[in-house]
Amino acid sequence: MADPAMDVASASSAGAWRLRHLHLSLRVAFAAAGAGRLHGTVRLELCCAREGAGPLRLDAHPSVAVRGVALLTSPADGAGDGPAGNPRQPLAFESHPFTSYGSALHIDLPQPLRAGQLLTIEIDYEAGEGPGVCWLAPEQTAGKQKPYMYTQGQAVLNRSFFPCFDTPSVKSTYSATVKVPEGFTAVMSATSWEKQKDNTFVFKMSQPIPSYLIALAVGDIVSAEVGPRSRVWAEPCLIEAAKKEYDGVIEEFLVVGEKLFGPYVWGRYDILFMPPSFPFGGMENPCLTFLTPCLLAGDRSLVDVVIHEISHSWFGNLVTNATWGEFWLNEGFTMYAQRRISTQVYGSAYTCLEAATGRALLRQHMDSTGEQHPLNRLRVVIEPGVNPDDTYNETPYEKGYCFVSYLAHLVGDQSKFDAFLQAYVNRFKFQSITADDTLGFFLEYFPELKEKGVDSIPGLEFDRWLNTPGWPPFLPDLSPGEQLMRPAEELAELWAADGLNMEAIEAVDITAWRTYQLVYFLDKVLQKSPLPEGNVERLSKMYPKISKSQNAELRLRWCQIVLKNNLEAEYSKVKDFLHSQGKQKYTLPLYRAMWGGSESARALAMETFSATASQLHINVQNYVKKILGLEVAGD
Ligand code: BES
Ligand code: ZN
Repeated sequence: MADPAMDVASASSAGAWRLRHLHLSLRVAFAAAGAGRLHGTVRLELCCAREGAGPLRLDAHPSVAVRGVALLTSPADGAGDGPAGNPRQPLAFESHPFTSYGSALHIDLPQPLRAGQLLTIEIDYEAGEGPGVCWLAPEQTAGKQKPYMYTQGQAVLNRSFFPCFDTPSVKSTYSATVKVPEGFTAVMSATSWEKQKDNTFVFKMSQPIPSYLIALAVGDIVSAEVGPRSRVWAEPCLIEAAKKEYDGVIEEFLVVGEKLFGPYVWGRYDILFMPPSFPFGGMENPCLTFLTPCLLAGDRSLVDVVIHEISHSWFGNLVTNATWGEFWLNEGFTMYAQRRISTQVYGSAYTCLEAATGRALLRQHMDSTGEQHPLNRLRVVIEPGVNPDDTYNETPYEKGYCFVSYLAHLVGDQSKFDAFLQAYVNRFKFQSITADDTLGFFLEYFPELKEKGVDSIPGLEFDRWLNTPGWPPFLPDLSPGEQLMRPAEELAELWAADGLNMEAIEAVDITAWRTYQLVYFLDKVLQKSPLPEGNVERLSKMYPKISKSQNAELRLRWCQIVLKNNLEAEYSKVKDFLHSQGKQKYTLPLYRAMWGGSESARALAMETFSATASQLHINVQNYVKKILGLEVAGD
């Protein structure tokens, strides 16, 4: 395993310990108007890895109030000499500042420990106001009847959920008991779920996972079966739609994934539909993916996100980036795996089309930051104090995808590369690794490529891929998607012309187009915008299927087009969309577009933000504030 000491985003002394198991015992209390508290204990079962390791340092957060720390002693493990008859020995602790996104909890240990010595620590604490724990008022849920809470750990937020080694380089099994108020249900990213008396839920995760994948949600949630090892969880008013969207399809993705990448080790694959303010499309919490309800499009058109989160079951959750600077190992391999599964299920034309929309996102991102921006390399140098979440962008996803595609191209045979991926997962499963491990294994697996020196082909050096910002030096061939892309490109050309050729436009029938074909068309229209005066109004009237769509991906593009063309008559669509959901990847581009636009667009931004800010995830709130030049607390 990689040396956890390399993780500058963690204040913990993870390298000196081995975490054998973690247990959470929590009580969830909702308070008025979207607030609440978690009361509980976290128990860490540790093995001393290094002689004289103490004090124990954990990641925590100023919002976590530690009430007490105790060493649990038992004669069997020889962990220490608690006073006779008292298996709990109180330990002194102190909180120290670390960064804007966390603090360090130092715990004094009674005596120097030997390597191999076992030790169980229990920390009593209260939490709830930190960025990792989100409390929603009833109005912020789909049903609007009961409050809701959920946690979001990735990347460095779980330190405000419970004190821990909050680094992806440390993995452990975990268990939890969660007591909730009457009428609520708790779910977690765990292998097993059990409801006991007293509104207490018991969970066990039997595979080792990093802290960022421990997740909890509590609300008025129910479930429905959608496959032999899958169910959907959602608020009662969404459950029918959720079941309809995914009944019978999940299993197919899992089976294809297993064929390509090896056994699915997590037991169940369930999905939880989150309240609309959930900041991501999906979050790959093991056994229980969290998804935005925006994916309930009614026509299965947005399943690529589910395939993506399923792909993390191998890339990210089994083989994990050791630090957030290596995030592309999680996301780039997952994009590649997602598109392999998609190719098997939907064919290469459709998958290349979807990949082309991904490439367009990368283009937009690099255009707006400049290709040479330091975040536009795969291995990001995260300086001490910099919040890893602030480095989030398209590069690890789409440039990462290009690099993995390049590795496949070097191999030259898809089935050999698939076999490599399976061997790679098998080699590094349950570990946390760096790109050096990945690329070292690649060259070891293909000695003939190593001999040829494929890692140092001028312009395509592995080192350049990892460490030089810029547009990917290799792009996978997406031409199988051309049959779907070309008509969309041609139609965009027609709409961008001065003096519209309505005859040619009317000859194109878009009624049968797939969602991603429309997305591709709209991206092209956006690129060519602003269009000549009047064209966008006509486009809007001609295609209500687009301009009045309820599909989130289409709504995003339509809103971007409205703003780029300053179509004030349709500003209300931007407002409605931003009121209806809080996904970061939808919210930030729209605020950027509004802030970069006319006076009235800026006014729309301010008005919309003041009405919706309280509903946004705290990170998203802060990113919007930065765009709008508003002050961000703690910066
Ligand atoms: N793991 C990510 C979400 C994430 C990344 C949360 C970084 C916190 C910090 C998830 O797998 C993801 O990539 N979701 C995408 C899906 C898309 C690429 C298909 C999303 O939310 O848009
Ligand atoms: Zn992902």
